[in-house]
Amino acid sequence: MSFGKIIATARYLPEKIVTNDDLAEWLDTSDEWIQSRTGIKQRHIAEAENTSDMCSQVAKKLVDHTTIDPLSLDFIIVATMSPDYTSPSVACQVQGQIGATQAMAFDVTAACAGFVYALATAENFIRGGMRRGIVIGGEKTSKLLDWHDRSSAVLFGDGAAGVLLEATEEPSIIKQMLRADGKQSQALTAGYHANKNIFHEEAETSPALTMDGRGIWNFALNDVTKSLKEFVGEESVDYYLLHQANKRIIEKIARKMSEPLEKFPMNLMNYGNTSAASIPILLDELVETKQLSLNGKQKIVLTGYGGGLAWGNLLIQL
Ligand code: ACO
Repeated sequence: MSFGKIIATARYLPEKIVTNDDLAEWLDTSDEWIQSRTGIKQRHIAEAENTSDMCSQVAKKLVDHTTIDPLSLDFIIVATMSPDYTSPSVACQVQGQIGATQAMAFDVTAACAGFVYALATAENFIRGGMRRGIVIGGEKTSKLLDWHDRSSAVLFGDGAAGVLLEATEEPSIIKQMLRADGKQSQALTAGYHANKNIFHEEAETSPALTMDGRGIWNFALNDVTKSLKEFVGEESVDYYLLHQANKRIIEKIARKMSEPLEKFPMNLMNYGNTSAASIPILLDELVETKQLSLNGKQKIVLTGYGGGLAWGNLLIQL
């Protein structure tokens, strides 16, 4: 049997930066509130670009930097909760953009746990015989928001990032644990499609993102942390790449794990919560600054959690 190995990473952030002070121009909020409650200082916001454009940029970088032939790709999987369309998938759009005509392509919807779900899925395809593929987390969350709702508009940002995965003989993605609690599905909703047709009318419902912030906070500190503890067990881990939603949540999880905060790198101050893109953006930055090496001996854990509610952990020997 073969196993998946991350060969390359890449990210793409839209050019426009929106600071907390910019938001305070039309929202009853402040830089002080946002930074002290979340750690976020600014976020990138896509203008004309859509999710598929950002994801295609990531795929192009992965192909160009590694000089692989796009025809050698067996799969393209995109994790997103903000696709351009209900159909086609973002992954199919990316496949067309880079000319990877031999690759199967589909999207995974697991909100902020999306990248972990997608990478676990890709690993299982490689264990089943596929040889090479791309996994991307990409979001234009800005189009899901009510920009006049201060409780959610200040939290999110746009971006995309991903990895090239290839078959090798030794396991690299050593262990996976994926979980969901659909009873709490209303804790975070976005992009509701009006349930109407010629036979049925429905009162207008806003498709904008709604979030029970405190509910998700408790879920992160209880369910997610409990599963992470169980998952890690006695394993010695170099770095934990947690979903980048809130600095205070990450600090509290580090404390509950009895691990030093230095093992929990963060970049949410620069990007806000980019949902499925947050973990691969962080991964790519750490590889770029050489804090992580893809040829090295480091062991990392990726933990995503959010809407669904869905969450998951991966243990990776890089
Ligand atoms: N500026 C100023 N005041 C604000 C703002 C704002 N942007 N937003 C809310 N407030 C006010 C509230 O109205 C409230 O005022 P009140 O006390 O007069 O009613 C007060 O600040 C406190 O509000 P809380 O919601 O209790 O603030 P809290 O400390 O819980 O922070 C936050 C809110 C940041 C959302 C936090 O709960 C959180 O991070 N939750 C987790 C979110 C998360 O991790 N999501 C990840 C999943 S996302 C996904 O899957 C796509």
